[in-house]
This record gives sequence, structure tokens and C-alpha cells, in this order.
Amino acid sequence: MDRLTLTRIVKERQLPLLLSATRRLVTPMYRAAFLAAAARSGVLGRLAVRPCDLQTLAHSLDVDQHAEELRTWLDIGVRLGDLAWFDDTYRLRSRTAKALARPGREPVAAALEEVLRFHLPVLMEAPQMLREGRRLSLSDQDGQVIARSTRVVEPFVEEAVRRTLDRDRPLRLLEVGCGAGTYVRLAAQLNPRLTALAIDLQDEVAAEAAENMAVWGLAGRVETRQGDLRTLTVEPQFDLVTLHNNIYYFPPGDRVDVLRKARSLLAPGGRLLLTTACRGGNLGLEVLNLWFTHADFGGPLPTVEDLVRQLDDAGFAQVTTRRLIPGDQFHAVVGVNAPAGRP
Ligand SMILES: C[S@@+](CC[C@H](N)C(=O)[O-])C[C@H]1O[C@@H](n2cnc3c(N)ncnc32)[C@H](O)[C@@H]1O
Repeated sequence: MDRLTLTRIVKERQLPLLLSATRRLVTPMYRAAFLAAAARSGVLGRLAVRPCDLQTLAHSLDVDQHAEELRTWLDIGVRLGDLAWFDDTYRLRSRTAKALARPGREPVAAALEEVLRFHLPVLMEAPQMLREGRRLSLSDQDGQVIARSTRVVEPFVEEAVRRTLDRDRPLRLLEVGCGAGTYVRLAAQLNPRLTALAIDLQDEVAAEAAENMAVWGLAGRVETRQGDLRTLTVEPQFDLVTLHNNIYYFPPGDRVDVLRKARSLLAPGGRLLLTTACRGGNLGLEVLNLWFTHADFGGPLPTVEDLVRQLDDAGFAQVTTRRLIPGDQFHAVVGVNAPAGRP
């Protein structure tokens, strides 16, 4: 390249901008994508046990015939600094890769996947979607990924379940939108006389929850099935109805009816426990809010005040709220289906 061309390129500042954007913006995104895929495919977990050669990894992923293509992908991981190639084997290198590989970190890997697959597209396409009148639908999500990623808030929701659940008498629980079913499992552990109906709108999510119940030895106490709260016809028999992380799957205008429906399934004196992210929280929650604002079902995250008003309007008594994550907008709301004649 002659001097003149080089000077012109440098003066235009386009190349330096591209190089700096690549380093500061693009590379972290590539890392997030690589790490999410490496976690989900089991590569991180396998390399945490011991270094592996290419053929072993290809075999574990059931792609023996495509080992060379797999090498291209793994070598990007090396280039990003998350893997190392040493002694003809791949191994974990970065602290993040090692941390994600630890047992129990699957929800964090799933949360990364949620960000990449669902948050980035809505951030990129929101203005165009508005222009075209295009909305997101439930099928734009992957219910199983969401069921796993939502587990990042598990310790906080668990605390709310522990506080609310009666342990000293037989209890009937209805869990609406059960996801993986982990909160039903906790409730069943806390109260050995608890029986439950766990429903989820999405077939594949309900099927995975049912499998989990069987693995956890709870199939005899928990009926798990596909179901929609709005059309559920069962006796008003429940002592507790729970809705965790899903009130924003209902349009704001329908929420009072949804809560009224939940109340209609409670026995007198029964309680509703609702946990949810609310408006004004961390950046991830605001992008979640953006996603649901652009959906053809559901709607924006609520505020705590919205929820209190909606529970009141749905006829609940003794409505209380509690912030579950210090410094963030993640709350539990409890309301009582007061026995007739009692406020
Ligand atoms: C973000 S996930 C949360 C899953 C689980 N509750 C948790 O906290 O881990 C929300 C779930 O609510 C379910 N859901 C949404 N609308 C529902 C409805 N009308 N009836 C039953 N489940 C519903 C969705 O299918 C989805 O699996």
C-alpha cells in the first residue's frame, strides 16, 4: 500500500474506530456466545474434568465425522482466551470459563444464552419492529432456555417460598407457569404433606417439569401438566397459588382478571404468592421489559404499586409486598382470599 493511501485511511479514522469497536464491543459478544455454547454443549463441563483431545470432544458431542469443523470452533475459544491448546489437548483457561464449568452454574450460562438469543435481537430491531407493526410472540422465545435462565433468581424466590409456606398441616399448592418445577420441589421438601398441581402454558416446558418431578421422586404428590391459568377448570381447593416470574406474560389490562381467576381457585383463607421483576431494576431487567413491551402477548414489567392495586382490585385482602433482592426491583407480593364475611 502506498503512503498516500495509508495516510488517507488513517485520516478518515474509520479503521481505528472499527478496531476499537471490535476490541471493546464485538470481542466480549463473541466470548459470551462461545461460552454460552460451550457450557450448553457440555464442552466446559468435560474440560473441567480433564483436558481432552479433538477426537474425544468430537465423540462426546456426537460429531465424530466433523472433527475438523469442530476444531475451527474450538480454536476460536482458544483465540478468545477461554480455552488453551497444549500438548495436543484442549483445556479451560479463563477464569470465566472455569467458573461457568462448575456444577450449579447452568442458570448463568442459560442467562447468557437468553441475552444473546432474545435480548440482542429486540435491542437491534425495536425501531424497525415499531415501523413495521411487528410483534414478538411466545414462539420467539425458547421456553426451556428461559426455564433454566430464570433460575438465576432462585435463591430470592426460594426465600419468598420459605416465608410463605405453611409447614404444619396438609397443603394443596397450585403453581402457575412452573418452568423447571424447582419451586414446587422446594415446597414439597418444606412440607412433606403438600400435594400440588403444577401447570405451564408451554408443552415442552411442562413435559420437562414432569420429567423432573419423576426424577425427584415427586410424581406421586405433584401432578404436572400443560395448562393455561385463564382456562383452568379445577375445584377452588388450593391453600396456596404461586406465580413466579410470569405476571408480565399477561397484558396489563388482563392482569386483574388473571389474579381474580387465581383467587377463584383458592380455598377460603388461601393465599397467593407472586414474585416478579419490576420496572426500574438492573439493565437486564429493563431489556426484559423491552422484550415484553414488544410482544403480542404479555406486556411491560409491573411496578410494585401496580401489583398492589391489581391484587386489591382482584379482591385479595391483606396485601403485602417485600423486596427480595436488595437494591434491585425484584419483589414478592402476597394476598389472602379472605373467608366470606371477613375483609
Ligand atoms: C419466565 S418463565 C418462569 C418459570 C418459573 N416460574 C420460574 O420462575 O423459574 C414463565 C413461565 O410462565 C409460563 N406461563 C405464561 N403464561 C402462562 C399461563 N397463562 N398459564 C400457565 N403458565 C404460563 C410460561 O410458559 C413460562 O414457562
